[in-house]
Amino acid sequence: MTAGQQQTVFVTGASSGFGAAIARRFAADGALVIATARRTEPLATLAREFGPNILPLALDVRDRTAVEQAVAGLPTPFSHVDVLVNNAGLARGLQPAQRADPDHWQQMLDTNCAGLLHCTRAVLPGMVARGRGHLINLGSTAGSYPYPGANVYGATKAFVHQFSLNLRSDLHGTGVRVTCIEPGMSGGTEFSTVRFDGDEATARAVYADMQPLTADNIAAAVHWAVSQPAHVNINTIELMPVAQSFAPFQIHRTPTRGGPGEVVGSGTGGAVPPAHPSAARLPGRQHRQPPESEDLPASPH
Ligand SMILES: NC(=O)c1ccc[n+]([C@@H]2O[C@H](COP(=O)([O-])OP(=O)(O)OC[C@H]3O[C@@H](n4cnc5c(N)ncnc54)[C@H](OP(=O)(O)O)[C@@H]3O)[C@@H](O)[C@H]2O)c1
Repeated sequence: MTAGQQQTVFVTGASSGFGAAIARRFAADGALVIATARRTEPLATLAREFGPNILPLALDVRDRTAVEQAVAGLPTPFSHVDVLVNNAGLARGLQPAQRADPDHWQQMLDTNCAGLLHCTRAVLPGMVARGRGHLINLGSTAGSYPYPGANVYGATKAFVHQFSLNLRSDLHGTGVRVTCIEPGMSGGTEFSTVRFDGDEATARAVYADMQPLTADNIAAAVHWAVSQPAHVNINTIELMPVAQSFAPFQIHRTPTRGGPGEVVGSGTGGAVPPAHPSAARLPGRQHRQPPESEDLPASPH
């Protein structure tokens, strides 16, 4: 945060995970924080922790009218929002598109895309009128790098990425800054529990034997971006745990009987010829018909 100013920070999805850590990070810094989410009890806990610097506000970002009324009705001294953290979001399911639940898709679109738009549109005119402000949007590495089962979730985060860049063009000359934070695998939040519909064992398995990013790591990145001098815009921050990296493209191989390189007669149906000499050495993801259980858990982020 720019030195010497007490800023007002509006955080969506502050009832858990990144949002709660971001609200805490700014409140600890002396900022006024409007902490919003659908569940009010965790917000009340935040308010008890930090006193009058936190304004807890029940808000479903999918409800455009409710968002407009909430922003228009912000009481003094919270009424001038300096930083909007569009964090509320979720992944639902990890099924391939052909088996995914369309209601899950709709909820992700309504929350991750439409909800983010509602909050941005409600807060932005005030920022432009004051000649300053900062929009922080929570994207994901899933918006840049595909993985099986990320179909609509990844697409919503690609939307967040591109919307953030487009906003920078629209806001040219206004003094309003825009940053997209794009984390990889992060643990200690409710993300995977929500994705797997409350199945805690499956959610826990996602982070087994590895060290994911934490909500505090994300809060630190957000705080750092906001703390830059007013003339500096951090466009995008992409961060991942060291334990997560990139893997080769998956290759679908179709064995052809009698084709070049085929080994026949072993009684096992024959070996699959590598398409490229190096393929024999590469641990590429081979196609086979996955049983249902192999869909979970993957590497969601
Ligand atoms: N964890 C990861 O690996 C990861 C990685 C990259 C990006 N992200 C993104 O980071 C953001 C936060 O994720 P997280 O890991 O902190 O998950 P989380 O612990 O599940 O937190 C999600 C927050 O969003 C809120 N929310 C969901 N639907 C909402 C709605 N309709 N209206 C208002 N608030 C709503 C939830 O609050 P209520 O349920 O109380 O409304 C909750 O506070 C999400 O946008 C997520 O896509 C997460």
